[in-house]
Amino acid sequence: MSTTADYTEKIPNNVSLHEDRRLQRALESWQPNFLHWWQTMGPALPTQDVYLRTAVNVGRDGWAQFGHVAMPEYRWGIFLAERDPGRKVGFGEHKGEPVWDKVPGEYRAELQRLIVIQGDTEPASVEQQRNLGATAPSLYDLRNLFQVNVEEGRHLWAMVYLLHAYFGREGREEAEELLHRNSGSLDSPRILGAFNEETPDWLSFYMFTYFTDRDGKYQLGTLKESAFDPLSRTCEFMLKEEAHHMMVGTTGVDRVVQRTVEVMREHDTDDVAGLGAIPLPVIQKYLNFHYSVSLDLFGGETSTNVANYYTAGLKGRWLEDRRKDDHKLTSDAMMVDALTEDADGELSIGQTEVMALTGLNTDLRREYISDCQGGVKRWNRILEEAGVKQRLKLPHVAFNRKVGAFAGIEATPDGEKLSAEEWNRRRGGWLPTDVDKTYVRSLMQPVHQRGKIAAWIAPPRNGINGQPFDYDYVHLA
Ligand SMILES: [Fe+2]
Ligand SMILES: [Fe+2]
Repeated sequence: MSTTADYTEKIPNNVSLHEDRRLQRALESWQPNFLHWWQTMGPALPTQDVYLRTAVNVGRDGWAQFGHVAMPEYRWGIFLAERDPGRKVGFGEHKGEPVWDKVPGEYRAELQRLIVIQGDTEPASVEQQRNLGATAPSLYDLRNLFQVNVEEGRHLWAMVYLLHAYFGREGREEAEELLHRNSGSLDSPRILGAFNEETPDWLSFYMFTYFTDRDGKYQLGTLKESAFDPLSRTCEFMLKEEAHHMMVGTTGVDRVVQRTVEVMREHDTDDVAGLGAIPLPVIQKYLNFHYSVSLDLFGGETSTNVANYYTAGLKGRWLEDRRKDDHKLTSDAMMVDALTEDADGELSIGQTEVMALTGLNTDLRREYISDCQGGVKRWNRILEEAGVKQRLKLPHVAFNRKVGAFAGIEATPDGEKLSAEEWNRRRGGWLPTDVDKTYVRSLMQPVHQRGKIAAWIAPPRNGINGQPFDYDYVHLA
């Protein structure tokens, strides 16, 4: 295998696709369906070309090239990270054995399921973000949106390649289904809840790329540990692209907060709603929403499926090789979030001890939560430096949950249990109301002129690939 992609092929790849004519033909017949999906469900704003990064190499340096590209002609390719010939299974009952180049028959159904679930999220986010181009705050942001979109499209290719190459007819059928399910569709929605929510405005987009794309980062991190080597190598390369999506979210929220405090100080008021900026309480409500729906993506606190995936070597833990234990966990225990019952039968928010293997969803969610703290810390530094006393924070893990131990109860952002009645009375203080959403949407007027930016957001500190902010990142049609 070479690390450099072959761009003379219809489908750029570094997996020697031309050596397997059957597979090549199957993927080439999926390609027009993908392009049809892109044209009908992808970015709606007509453009001539966009300054985009295209992956060309999986090596450490110079893995991507930048240039103006007409989006439908973007070269979506198939890239696996370099093979490590001595790689061994890092956990579970096969620990220490050589990794697998083929799918073992006994794990076929589980591996296919894991790949389909990951694959389903990639095009879903493109669909969710389809109409955002029309209200972009700058050409720089518009370009970043499209970059994220084309790369999520490539991530779909990454999963479809695995389905076609390793899962036979069933895999090919699943690849078709990935284009037929659609975000928010009543008949055939996307598999996971957060991927059926709308992304109607740019504050939502930044929160989504911060919180929901970050879930993707953690899922990919666990699949990168997989004993099924092609999956591991695919995910390793996807993580490289994912870093940019995180950056878009992190700095996007930075810039919204930055602009809000500037307007607060300029007018010496906390109430910036009439002044064209987004008030801090509204930013907090958006954060509460996106964070809580993203926590749901990690599933229930305990899961025997996930325990089995781990024992089988299909899905590991975040940074598995840095964990200081036996990587089998057969005799370990851990505490997970739970509703606990006191002496008089009253339920309260607490914790319970379970076998470490069944608590792996909780383990991953905790890694994710501590990573999310990083963003909040960073945004609070902006508030602090501006001399503003308010602070943002992550709501409690029991707040607004639809999956897991706390799905059946209501809780405040501080983790205090509430009756359904009280929740309904107070939820507008914690989650975006129609009034908040309408206000945020009213600010979403497109700024499509070079070097200009909307009034509700600060310009970025740096442009893309060393280009200035006023670079011609996008040529509109
Ligand atoms: Fe992705
Ligand atoms: Fe992403």
